[in-house]
Amino acid sequence: MKRLVLLAAVLQGLTFAGAAAAQGAAVPDYSAFPCLSHTLPCGELAAREPVRKELEGPLDGNAARGKQTAFARNRGNCLACHVMPGGSQPGSRGPDLSHFGSTGRSTAETFAMVWDMRTVNPETLMPPFGTNAVLTEQELRDVVAFLLSLK
Ligand code: HEC
Repeated sequence: MKRLVLLAAVLQGLTFAGAAAAQGAAVPDYSAFPCLSHTLPCGELAAREPVRKELEGPLDGNAARGKQTAFARNRGNCLACHVMPGGSQPGSRGPDLSHFGSTGRSTAETFAMVWDMRTVNPETLMPPFGTNAVLTEQELRDVVAFLLSLK
């Protein structure tokens, strides 16, 4: 009998500890962060609507500069998700882009994808680099030149 009482007391204690942890202030408040998807409820900052950006004029991009922008962890950081030639420790959430230039994609199509991939897949994980002003238009033109050079 004594044992049963002890067990009951221990169980009650555990339940209480669990409830206290669930209510605790340790749960971060993410509500101010916008999310990438425009179809999910995103807290207070509205996500920017997807933009289908048309490429105007000739590409005028520099592939070497585009590579630097793509690889820089504080710029494109494409390696977080993509294999790209010459890049180390790539992630695998996105497709391997080693031969992207041989896939037959047009310059305009590639530009629209890196500007805002949500125009192709509304639920994509890929950040909308142009719409969210992560990269400038010239930086994206350079990145497109780099992508198309990957044969
Ligand atoms: C957080 C992960 C992530 C990052 C960072 C990312 N991408 Fe992507 N990317 C994806 C995913 C996932 C796809 C597959 C398309 C989809 O989402 O449906 C994709 C697709 C692509 C495609 C189309 C590939 C094809 O053959 O269809 C290109 C081009 C591309 N990404 C370029 C880039 C470039 C350039 C950067 C950096 C400036 C970049 N991505 C950064 C996740 C990412």
